[in-house]
Amino acid sequence: MPSTEQKPVSLLAFAGSLRRESFSRTVAHSLAGRQKAPVKMSVYDIGEIPLYNQDLDGENPPAPVKAFKDAIAAADGLVIVTPEYNYGVSGVLKNALDWVSRPAFNSVLKGKPVLPVACSPASTGGVRAIGQLKLLLLATLSRVVPGPEVVIAEVHNKIRDGRFTDEKNLEFAQGQIDVLVKMVQEARA
Ligand code: FNR
Repeated sequence: MPSTEQKPVSLLAFAGSLRRESFSRTVAHSLAGRQKAPVKMSVYDIGEIPLYNQDLDGENPPAPVKAFKDAIAAADGLVIVTPEYNYGVSGVLKNALDWVSRPAFNSVLKGKPVLPVACSPASTGGVRAIGQLKLLLLATLSRVVPGPEVVIAEVHNKIRDGRFTDEKNLEFAQGQIDVLVKMVQEARA
């Protein structure tokens, strides 16, 4: 009899902010906390990744870069939560993605299903940053989840006791996480 048990899907989320009480990281953790078997989402901290230096890049990059690359390689899909800095992604996020985008067109990001998410205290919700993030991901040959963008406006008003609580936003984001999971499962079939 065929097993009805589905293969586990492991998602890796990370946020483009190092701030202790980062809204982006809070959103990442709240999304991770909602996932149910067979989906598991863990949140990775990019805080140890040094500034990109091509002299240090190659087979043996700095240890935090190697660890981040390994975590991405081991994940079935990614959820990237970006804040918006001056109408774009934060420098720390761009920096981390630059490291893991090498070797060019053959990095751990190649073919990886990715869901970009943006949040901001502004009513625009980081919509410009998510556009820039999608363009950046195009260069990495990752597979960006199609469909409507997950943009969270006025994020600062939607956090209670360190948790993101806006059910409407969470449900909308979950719809796109479900698409991400489907992309992973279809690629396996
Ligand atoms: C911002 N912020 C911001 N917000 C926005 O909606 N559009 C923008 O262009 C900018 N630009 C910007 C630049 C810089 C240098 C900073 C520090 C901040 C506000 C930003 O969204 C806010 O600080 C968030 O709280 C940052 O995300 P985390 O740290 O909470 O995840």
